[in-house]
Parts: sequence; C-alpha cells; structure tokens
Amino acid sequence: MTGLAVATEAAMAAIAARLAAVLRPGDIIALHGDLGAGKTTFARALIGVLGWPGEVPSPTYTLVQSYDPPDVRLSVWHVDLYRLDSSDDADALGLFETSAVLIIEWPERLGSRLPADALRLAIAGSGDAVRHLTWAAPPAWEGRWPPLLPT
Ligand SMILES: Nc1ncnc2c1ncn2[C@@H]1O[C@H](COP(=O)(O)OP(=O)(O)O)[C@@H](O)[C@H]1O
Ligand SMILES: [Mg+2]
Repeated sequence: MTGLAVATEAAMAAIAARLAAVLRPGDIIALHGDLGAGKTTFARALIGVLGWPGEVPSPTYTLVQSYDPPDVRLSVWHVDLYRLDSSDDADALGLFETSAVLIIEWPERLGSRLPADALRLAIAGSGDAVRHLTWAAPPAWEGRWPPLLPT
C-alpha cells in the first residue's frame, strides 16, 4: 500500500472530492479504519461533492443509506457493516446486485466476499491526530487512483 499524511479534515475532504470526480457506476470503495478514524466523515464529504444538499447520517443502524439522482450525480449507497453479523447477510442488503457506487465502512465484515476490484482506502489515526491514508488500487482504478494531489 502507498499513502500520505492528511493533516486536516479539510484536506481529507479535498481527497474525497478527487475521488468523487472519477467515480463510475458499480465502483466500490472499501473504507477501512478504526472507530473515529474518519470513515463517515470521508463518505459525507464525497456524497456532498456528488451534489447531495442535505445531511448525511451515519448508516450505523440502517446499514445502507442510498442517494439517487437528481440530487446526486450518480447513485451511491453509503454502507456501514459494523452491525452485520455474517457476510451472508450482505445478500439481503442487495450489495452484490446494485450498480450504485458503494462506499463501505467496515468492509472487513464481507470477508472474502469483498469484490477484488474494490478500491481499498484505509484511514489510520483518531481524535486530533494527523490521519494517514493508505490504499490498494486494483487495475480497475488505473489512471483514476491515486489522484494528482496538490503538494
Ligand atoms: N483528517 C482528519 N483530521 C482530523 N480530524 C478528523 C479528520 N477526519 C475526521 N476527523 C474527525 O474525527 C472524527 C471521525 O468520526 P467519524 O467520521 O464518525 O469516524 P468513523 O466513521 O471512522 O468511525 C470526526 O469527529 C471528525 O471531525
Ligand atoms: Mg462511521
């Protein structure tokens, strides 16, 4: 994995905006990181850049929160699998059937069922600490990730 240090929440939001710009239907973003790392904050920034004008609640209990055009540029599901008991339960959520972009918190819950072409982002750090963002970008993301970031 390669990565970079992200000093502020605003800088992380800028990275989410870069990602939003290259998204296509069917893309899967696996967001790894401990509680408080900033997964929901990242998803919120991304969904906002896609055009969503309202609040983006954490899908802790609903597990899936979907956003659809015309409010957003393309359909996106914000998913939090923390409370998923078994990877089999993911079928009931329809995760493997939709062509919506999936932003998945706690993707570990899917085990080996996480599709191989998912872009895997990991955020380390919590509280006021600088975050470290690392990633594994499969071939489907070539030319799209990593983004060219301002230095
Ligand atoms: N890059 C960052 N630098 C500093 N603080 C951050 C950063 N990203 C997020 N935060 C803060 O850390 C907390 C992360 O919470 P949240 O996004 O709910 O985490 P998670 O979904 O990973 O449990 C929020 O209070 C947010 O303001
Ligand atoms: Mg969260």
